[in-house]
Amino acid sequence: MRKRETVGSGWREAHFGRAPLVAIALAVVVLAARPAGTGDSPDCTDPQSGCSLAETAAQAGFWVGAAVGNAASHPSTQATIGGHFNSMTAENAMKWGPLARRVGEYDFGRADALVGLAEERAVRMRGHTLLWGRGPLPVDLESEVNQSPNPQARLRELLDQHIRTVVGRYAGRVQSWDVVNEPLSVAGAAFDYNLFFRTLGESYIAEAFRIAHEADPGAQLFLNEFFFVYSGSPKSQAFLALVEKLVAEGVPMHGVGVQAHFWDYLPIALPSREEFQNFLQALADLGLAVELTELDISRHYFDQGPDPLLRQAEFYSEITSACVAVPACQGITTWGIDDPGTWLDVTAPFDQVAPHEPLLFDAELQPKPAYFSMRDAVAERIIPFTARALLRLFDESVKTGALEGAGPPGSAVAKLRSLRSSLEKTVKYIDSDRVSGACRELERTARRLDTDGSSRAFATGPAARDLEEAIRELRGLLACDS
Ligand code: XIL
Repeated sequence: MRKRETVGSGWREAHFGRAPLVAIALAVVVLAARPAGTGDSPDCTDPQSGCSLAETAAQAGFWVGAAVGNAASHPSTQATIGGHFNSMTAENAMKWGPLARRVGEYDFGRADALVGLAEERAVRMRGHTLLWGRGPLPVDLESEVNQSPNPQARLRELLDQHIRTVVGRYAGRVQSWDVVNEPLSVAGAAFDYNLFFRTLGESYIAEAFRIAHEADPGAQLFLNEFFFVYSGSPKSQAFLALVEKLVAEGVPMHGVGVQAHFWDYLPIALPSREEFQNFLQALADLGLAVELTELDISRHYFDQGPDPLLRQAEFYSEITSACVAVPACQGITTWGIDDPGTWLDVTAPFDQVAPHEPLLFDAELQPKPAYFSMRDAVAERIIPFTARALLRLFDESVKTGALEGAGPPGSAVAKLRSLRSSLEKTVKYIDSDRVSGACRELERTARRLDTDGSSRAFATGPAARDLEEAIRELRGLLACDS
């Protein structure tokens, strides 16, 4: 991400939180690719705009990704990474076992190719996953640890080497890591009783984050987990408690990943949108970024009624809207690209009821109804995101001195404060769907910026015009003048 901060220009790009910078850079690239003279990029809030998922996500400051299991050269990957997805995850290539069949014997070929593809297509890369007790490990890891005179010290040493080797190799190129995957047992509140936990207790989790942070201080570090029941279950409660504890201890953890596999094998009902959103909000309330990291939705939930794929699309929309409504929820990754590539169809026990058709593209690589419903739900983020970016632009401009209050010192400060409070109110109006209030605040703010030497200005300076333009753009999105 650091490298890409220089890509493109435009007022939103520079005033974006850390994570979505690439998304905005992408929007700028899309803009730059449009014929000169046509003015703005298509407005993806307009359902008729024909925006792709990735274009919509770029305007919404949001990540839409897919896990790539195939080689970087596979047609499904080539056809979708970049144009439809602005993020990708290695489905298997970066797990410890696939990287190193035996301890210390690394083969980075497949992982390197995926990182290369992400760079070529200018999408974000998520690394998955450094430590997964239930996942594939080097065949000799367990014996290495257990045959050592000091298993704890030996495992610590091996974890340290592994995390430094992998995160260090991709520092600055893999923007986000699932540092620990599935720390809890399948159901219930206990920790997963894996090699790491058996040997080191829960301390392995915090330790892994500290090492990863040292190896790449710029990477966004995640704890990733799956759930059957999202609100109030022993497992979801235990996860919240674990995250809260890690935060309180100052562990360098920046986000939590909610896998979000919906595969209709156990007789567990789908969560309501409200239940799902409440869980995401509870995680966000701990001060962390949230992402849905492995979304797939089996069509079998809907087989009994008419149009299963349309009903699947509706559920995709609900899940996406739930994330989009939580400002800290910054992205969604589907676990695969096209239906024939889903892990569910080839993994026991889910394979018993294949095909699941759980993804956004069909066997012909055509977007399914779920693709369009997800896109439209992502578009709900564009206006709130733009309003927040405007507030950030204001703050940055004040901080750098590009915007100054007008008048004698005391009154200049008060005027800046009042402008800021108008912009804050705008965000609140937008979050509660009160468009006329937002339009009124924006109009007031615009009038108070001095771009023409007016003596009634509240603020002045080189950033005043940028702000004015940003306000005009937001007013346009809100259709304030019609
Ligand atoms: C799965 C892959 O999709 C399969 O190809 C592989 O055989 C097993 O792992 N939770 C996770 C992912 O965190 O890493 C898993 O991926 C799916 C469940």
